[in-house]
Amino acid sequence: MTLEPAFQIFLGDCRERVEIALDRWLPSETTQPANLHSAMRYAALGGGKRVRPILVYAAGKALGAKPDCLDGAACAVELIHAYSLVHDDLPAMDDDDLRRGRPTCHKAYDEATAILAGDALQTLAFRILCEDDDLCIDRIDRLRMIAELAHASGSRGMAGGQALDMQATGREIDLAELENLHIHKTGALILASVRLGALASGASHDERLPGLERYAKCVGLAFQVRDDVLDVEGETEVLGKTRGKDAAADKATYPALIGLEGAREMAQRLIDEALENIAALGAAADPLRQLARYIVGREH
Ligand code: IPE
Ligand code: IPE
Ligand code: MG
Ligand code: MG
Ligand code: MG
Repeated sequence: MTLEPAFQIFLGDCRERVEIALDRWLPSETTQPANLHSAMRYAALGGGKRVRPILVYAAGKALGAKPDCLDGAACAVELIHAYSLVHDDLPAMDDDDLRRGRPTCHKAYDEATAILAGDALQTLAFRILCEDDDLCIDRIDRLRMIAELAHASGSRGMAGGQALDMQATGREIDLAELENLHIHKTGALILASVRLGALASGASHDERLPGLERYAKCVGLAFQVRDDVLDVEGETEVLGKTRGKDAAADKATYPALIGLEGAREMAQRLIDEALENIAALGAAADPLRQLARYIVGREH
Protein backbone atom coordinates (compact mmCIF):
# COMPACT_ATOMS: atom_id res chain seq x y z
CA MET A 1 0.00 0.00 0.00
CA THR A 2 1.14 3.57 -0.56
CA LEU A 3 1.47 5.77 2.48
CA GLU A 4 1.09 9.53 2.50
CA PRO A 5 4.53 11.20 2.62
CA ALA A 6 3.81 13.03 5.89
CA PHE A 7 2.75 9.76 7.53
CA GLN A 8 5.79 7.97 6.17
CA ILE A 9 7.99 10.56 7.88
CA PHE A 10 6.00 10.20 11.09
CA LEU A 11 6.46 6.40 11.02
CA GLY A 12 10.19 6.75 10.40
CA ASP A 13 10.60 9.28 13.21
CA CYS A 14 8.67 7.13 15.70
CA ARG A 15 10.64 4.00 14.81
CA GLU A 16 13.94 5.82 15.19
CA ARG A 17 12.94 7.34 18.53
CA VAL A 18 11.84 4.04 20.05
CA GLU A 19 14.89 2.19 18.73
CA ILE A 20 17.23 4.72 20.37
CA ALA A 21 15.26 4.70 23.62
CA LEU A 22 15.10 0.88 23.75
CA ASP A 23 18.82 0.63 23.08
CA ARG A 24 19.45 2.92 26.07
CA TRP A 25 17.21 1.01 28.46
CA LEU A 26 18.20 -2.52 27.49
CA PRO A 27 21.12 -3.91 29.49
CA SER A 28 24.46 -4.12 27.68
CA GLU A 29 25.57 -7.53 26.46
CA THR A 30 29.00 -6.76 27.87
CA THR A 31 27.53 -7.06 31.39
CA GLN A 32 26.59 -10.31 33.12
CA PRO A 33 24.59 -12.41 32.49
CA ALA A 34 25.80 -11.57 28.99
CA ASN A 35 23.90 -14.34 27.21
CA LEU A 36 20.57 -13.27 28.72
CA HIS A 37 21.24 -9.61 27.93
CA SER A 38 22.18 -10.55 24.39
CA ALA A 39 18.92 -12.51 23.97
CA MET A 40 16.87 -9.58 25.32
CA ARG A 41 18.50 -7.21 22.84
CA TYR A 42 18.06 -9.72 20.02
CA ALA A 43 14.32 -9.96 20.72
CA ALA A 44 13.68 -6.26 21.17
CA LEU A 45 15.97 -4.38 18.78
CA GLY A 46 16.28 -4.05 15.04
CA GLY A 47 12.96 -5.38 13.84
CA GLY A 48 9.21 -5.23 13.96
CA LYS A 49 6.81 -2.60 12.74
CA ARG A 50 6.66 -0.88 16.13
CA VAL A 51 2.90 -0.39 15.77
CA ARG A 52 2.31 -0.13 19.54
CA PRO A 53 4.94 2.59 20.13
CA ILE A 54 3.62 4.42 17.05
CA LEU A 55 0.15 4.32 18.63
CA VAL A 56 1.61 5.86 21.80
CA TYR A 57 3.19 8.70 19.80
CA ALA A 58 0.13 9.19 17.59
CA ALA A 59 -2.27 9.33 20.56
CA GLY A 60 0.11 11.73 22.33
CA LYS A 61 0.30 13.92 19.26
CA ALA A 62 -3.50 14.00 18.95
CA LEU A 63 -3.60 15.26 22.55
CA GLY A 64 -0.83 17.80 22.12
CA ALA A 65 2.01 16.05 23.98
CA LYS A 66 5.72 16.41 23.17
CA PRO A 67 7.39 13.21 21.85
CA ASP A 68 10.05 13.42 24.60
CA CYS A 69 7.34 12.76 27.18
CA LEU A 70 6.17 9.65 25.31
CA ASP A 71 9.39 7.65 24.83
CA GLY A 72 9.05 5.78 28.14
CA ALA A 73 5.52 4.62 27.38
CA ALA A 74 6.52 3.70 23.82
CA CYS A 75 9.39 1.54 25.12
CA ALA A 76 7.23 -0.08 27.80
CA VAL A 77 4.50 -1.28 25.41
CA GLU A 78 7.04 -2.51 22.87
CA LEU A 79 8.94 -4.48 25.53
CA ILE A 80 5.75 -6.23 26.64
CA HIS A 81 5.01 -6.98 23.00
CA ALA A 82 8.54 -8.28 22.31
CA TYR A 83 8.31 -10.53 25.37
CA SER A 84 4.92 -11.83 24.25
CA LEU A 85 6.37 -12.75 20.85
CA VAL A 86 9.33 -14.60 22.38
CA HIS A 87 6.99 -16.69 24.51
CA ASP A 88 4.38 -17.05 21.71
CA ASP A 89 7.06 -18.66 19.50
CA LEU A 90 8.20 -21.23 22.07
CA PRO A 91 7.66 -24.94 21.30
CA ALA A 92 5.05 -25.14 24.07
CA MET A 93 3.03 -22.43 22.36
CA ASP A 94 3.11 -21.80 18.57
CA ASP A 95 6.46 -23.51 18.01
CA ASP A 96 7.79 -21.08 15.39
CA ASP A 97 11.29 -20.87 13.93
CA LEU A 98 11.09 -17.52 12.17
CA ARG A 99 10.29 -14.09 13.64
CA ARG A 100 10.94 -10.67 12.15
CA GLY A 101 12.86 -12.36 9.35
CA ARG A 102 15.31 -14.06 11.73
CA PRO A 103 15.44 -17.24 13.79
CA THR A 104 13.13 -17.00 16.81
CA CYS A 105 14.77 -16.24 20.15
CA HIS A 106 14.73 -19.86 21.36
CA LYS A 107 16.33 -20.95 18.07
CA ALA A 108 19.04 -18.28 18.13
CA TYR A 109 19.71 -18.99 21.84
CA ASP A 110 17.95 -21.81 23.66
CA GLU A 111 14.57 -22.35 25.26
CA ALA A 112 15.57 -21.54 28.82
CA THR A 113 17.29 -18.34 27.72
CA ALA A 114 14.25 -17.33 25.64
CA ILE A 115 11.89 -17.87 28.59
CA LEU A 116 14.12 -15.78 30.83
CA ALA A 117 14.61 -13.10 28.19
CA GLY A 118 10.82 -12.78 27.94
CA ASP A 119 10.54 -12.54 31.72
CA ALA A 120 13.22 -9.86 31.90
CA LEU A 121 11.81 -7.83 28.99
CA GLN A 122 8.50 -7.77 30.79
CA THR A 123 9.92 -6.48 34.06
CA LEU A 124 12.08 -3.93 32.24
CA ALA A 125 8.87 -2.42 30.85
CA PHE A 126 7.65 -1.72 34.39
CA ARG A 127 11.05 -0.45 35.54
CA ILE A 128 10.93 2.15 32.78
CA LEU A 129 7.49 3.36 33.84
CA CYS A 130 8.76 3.62 37.43
CA GLU A 131 12.11 5.28 36.73
CA ASP A 132 11.91 7.26 33.50
CA ASP A 133 12.84 10.87 34.39
CA ASP A 134 11.50 12.19 31.09
CA LEU A 135 7.88 11.28 31.81
CA CYS A 136 6.21 14.69 32.09
CA ILE A 137 3.50 13.62 34.55
CA ASP A 138 2.85 13.43 38.27
CA ARG A 139 3.14 10.31 40.40
CA ILE A 140 -0.57 9.55 40.26
CA ASP A 141 -0.53 9.34 36.47
CA ARG A 142 2.67 7.31 36.63
CA LEU A 143 0.89 4.81 38.90
CA ARG A 144 -2.08 4.82 36.53
CA MET A 145 0.26 3.90 33.66
CA ILE A 146 1.83 1.05 35.63
CA ALA A 147 -1.58 -0.31 36.60
CA GLU A 148 -2.84 0.02 33.03
CA LEU A 149 0.08 -1.89 31.55
CA ALA A 150 -0.09 -4.58 34.26
CA HIS A 151 -3.77 -5.10 33.59
CA ALA A 152 -3.33 -5.21 29.80
CA SER A 153 -0.48 -7.73 30.03
CA GLY A 154 -1.93 -10.05 32.63
CA SER A 155 -4.52 -12.80 32.92
CA ARG A 156 -7.32 -10.37 32.05
CA GLY A 157 -5.37 -9.02 29.12
CA MET A 158 -2.72 -10.43 26.78
CA ALA A 159 -1.67 -13.47 28.85
CA GLY A 160 -5.32 -14.37 29.38
CA GLY A 161 -5.93 -14.07 25.65
CA GLN A 162 -2.99 -16.34 24.95
CA ALA A 163 -4.48 -18.89 27.36
CA LEU A 164 -7.80 -18.70 25.47
CA ASP A 165 -5.86 -19.12 22.20
CA MET A 166 -4.21 -22.28 23.51
CA GLN A 167 -7.55 -23.66 24.75
CA ALA A 168 -9.23 -22.94 21.41
CA THR A 169 -6.57 -24.64 19.31
CA GLY A 170 -7.96 -27.72 17.60
CA ARG A 171 -11.45 -26.99 18.89
CA GLU A 172 -14.47 -25.35 17.27
CA ILE A 173 -15.37 -22.04 18.81
CA ASP A 174 -18.04 -19.52 17.85
CA LEU A 175 -17.60 -15.95 16.67
CA ALA A 176 -18.21 -14.44 20.11
CA GLU A 177 -15.49 -16.63 21.65
CA LEU A 178 -13.06 -15.81 18.85
CA GLU A 179 -13.68 -12.10 19.26
CA ASN A 180 -13.11 -12.37 22.99
CA LEU A 181 -9.85 -14.26 22.41
CA HIS A 182 -8.54 -11.67 19.91
CA ILE A 183 -9.63 -8.71 22.03
CA HIS A 184 -7.52 -10.09 24.86
CA LYS A 185 -4.44 -11.54 23.19
CA THR A 186 -3.86 -8.55 20.89
CA GLY A 187 -6.47 -5.87 21.56
CA ALA A 188 -5.59 -5.32 25.21
CA LEU A 189 -2.03 -4.14 24.54
CA ILE A 190 -3.14 -1.98 21.63
CA LEU A 191 -5.76 -0.31 23.83
CA ALA A 192 -3.09 0.13 26.53
CA SER A 193 -0.78 1.78 23.98
CA VAL A 194 -3.37 4.49 23.30
CA ARG A 195 -4.22 4.84 26.99
CA LEU A 196 -0.57 5.09 28.00
CA GLY A 197 -0.03 7.70 25.29
CA ALA A 198 -2.95 9.65 26.74
CA LEU A 199 -1.80 9.25 30.35
CA ALA A 200 1.73 10.35 29.42
CA SER A 201 0.09 13.43 27.89
CA GLY A 202 -1.64 14.23 31.20
CA ALA A 203 -5.01 13.50 29.60
CA SER A 204 -6.46 10.97 32.06
CA HIS A 205 -9.66 13.04 32.37
CA ASP A 206 -9.70 14.48 28.86
CA GLU A 207 -13.09 14.47 27.13
CA ARG A 208 -11.41 13.12 23.98
CA LEU A 209 -10.21 9.95 25.73
CA PRO A 210 -13.42 7.83 25.44
CA GLY A 211 -13.44 8.32 21.65
CA LEU A 212 -9.75 7.44 21.46
CA GLU A 213 -10.42 4.29 23.46
CA ARG A 214 -13.21 3.21 21.13
CA TYR A 215 -10.84 3.87 18.21
CA ALA A 216 -8.19 1.69 19.89
CA LYS A 217 -10.60 -1.18 20.52
CA CYS A 218 -11.59 -1.29 16.85
CA VAL A 219 -7.98 -1.01 15.70
CA GLY A 220 -6.86 -3.72 18.14
CA LEU A 221 -9.35 -6.27 16.85
CA ALA A 222 -8.72 -5.27 13.21
CA PHE A 223 -4.99 -5.73 13.78
CA GLN A 224 -5.40 -9.39 14.76
CA VAL A 225 -7.97 -10.03 12.00
CA ARG A 226 -5.41 -8.72 9.50
CA ASP A 227 -2.72 -10.87 11.12
CA ASP A 228 -4.96 -13.92 10.64
CA VAL A 229 -5.58 -12.97 6.99
CA LEU A 230 -1.86 -12.49 6.34
CA ASP A 231 -1.13 -15.94 7.75
CA VAL A 232 -3.24 -17.27 4.86
CA GLU A 233 -2.39 -14.93 1.99
CA GLY A 234 0.98 -13.40 2.92
CA GLU A 235 4.46 -14.42 1.82
CA THR A 236 6.89 -15.82 4.35
CA GLU A 237 9.70 -13.58 3.03
CA VAL A 238 7.55 -10.46 3.39
CA LEU A 239 5.91 -11.48 6.68
CA GLY A 240 9.22 -12.37 8.30
CA LYS A 241 7.38 -15.32 9.88
CA THR A 242 6.22 -18.61 8.40
CA ARG A 243 2.89 -18.32 6.60
CA GLY A 244 0.24 -21.00 6.92
CA LYS A 245 1.07 -21.84 10.52
CA ASP A 246 -2.44 -21.15 11.80
CA ALA A 247 -4.14 -23.66 9.51
CA ALA A 248 -1.37 -26.21 10.08
CA ALA A 249 -1.84 -25.93 13.84
CA ASP A 250 -5.65 -25.80 13.55
CA LYS A 251 -5.79 -22.38 15.22
CA ALA A 252 -8.99 -20.45 15.84
CA THR A 253 -8.83 -17.55 13.35
CA TYR A 254 -11.21 -15.27 11.46
CA PRO A 255 -10.48 -16.75 8.01
CA ALA A 256 -11.13 -20.22 9.46
CA LEU A 257 -14.46 -19.12 10.89
CA ILE A 258 -15.88 -16.63 8.37
CA GLY A 259 -13.64 -17.11 5.32
CA LEU A 260 -10.91 -14.93 3.86
CA GLU A 261 -13.26 -12.43 2.23
CA GLY A 262 -15.41 -12.21 5.34
CA ALA A 263 -12.33 -11.53 7.44
CA ARG A 264 -11.07 -8.84 5.04
CA GLU A 265 -14.46 -7.12 5.10
CA MET A 266 -14.61 -7.30 8.86
CA ALA A 267 -11.19 -5.66 9.24
CA GLN A 268 -12.27 -2.86 6.92
CA ARG A 269 -15.55 -2.36 8.83
CA LEU A 270 -13.64 -2.12 12.08
CA ILE A 271 -11.30 0.49 10.64
CA ASP A 272 -14.25 2.56 9.38
CA GLU A 273 -15.69 2.41 12.89
CA ALA A 274 -12.32 3.36 14.40
CA LEU A 275 -12.18 6.43 12.15
CA GLU A 276 -15.74 7.48 13.04
CA ASN A 277 -14.74 7.57 16.69
CA ILE A 278 -12.00 10.14 16.12
CA ALA A 279 -13.82 12.12 13.41
CA ALA A 280 -14.28 15.10 15.73
CA LEU A 281 -10.54 15.44 16.41
CA GLY A 282 -8.54 17.90 14.33
CA ALA A 283 -5.53 17.52 12.06
CA ALA A 284 -3.33 16.50 15.02
CA ALA A 285 -5.14 13.13 14.89
CA ASP A 286 -4.16 12.51 11.27
CA PRO A 287 -1.38 10.03 12.23
CA LEU A 288 -3.99 8.00 14.12
CA ARG A 289 -6.18 8.00 11.00
CA GLN A 290 -3.33 6.97 8.71
CA LEU A 291 -2.22 4.32 11.16
CA ALA A 292 -5.68 2.73 11.17
CA ARG A 293 -5.59 2.51 7.36
CA TYR A 294 -2.04 1.15 7.45
CA ILE A 295 -3.12 -1.60 9.85
CA VAL A 296 -5.70 -3.07 7.45
CA GLY A 297 -3.63 -2.48 4.33
CA ARG A 298 -0.27 -3.78 5.56
CA GLU A 299 1.42 -6.76 3.92
CA HIS A 300 3.41 -7.78 7.00
C1 IPE B 1 2.46 -9.91 15.81
O1 IPE B 1 2.51 -8.55 16.09
C2 IPE B 1 1.69 -10.59 16.87
C3 IPE B 1 0.33 -10.12 17.00
C4 IPE B 1 -0.13 -9.62 18.09
C5 IPE B 1 -0.58 -10.22 15.87
P1 IPE B 1 3.15 -7.53 15.05
O2 IPE B 1 2.62 -7.78 13.68
O3 IPE B 1 2.98 -6.15 15.61
O4 IPE B 1 4.69 -7.94 15.07
P2 IPE B 1 5.99 -7.05 14.84
O5 IPE B 1 6.25 -6.33 16.12
O6 IPE B 1 5.73 -6.11 13.71
O7 IPE B 1 7.08 -8.05 14.54
C1 IPE C 1 0.17 -13.57 18.98
O1 IPE C 1 -0.77 -13.96 18.06
C2 IPE C 1 -0.37 -12.69 20.01
C3 IPE C 1 0.65 -12.41 21.02
C4 IPE C 1 1.93 -12.56 20.85
C5 IPE C 1 0.20 -11.93 22.28
P1 IPE C 1 -0.19 -14.89 16.89
O2 IPE C 1 0.34 -16.16 17.43
O3 IPE C 1 -1.19 -14.93 15.80
O4 IPE C 1 1.04 -13.97 16.41
P2 IPE C 1 2.06 -14.39 15.27
O5 IPE C 1 1.24 -14.67 14.04
O6 IPE C 1 2.81 -15.58 15.77
O7 IPE C 1 2.91 -13.17 15.11
MG1 MG D 1 -0.02 -17.38 19.05
MG1 MG E 1 2.23 -17.09 16.94
MG1 MG F 1 -0.73 -14.81 13.75
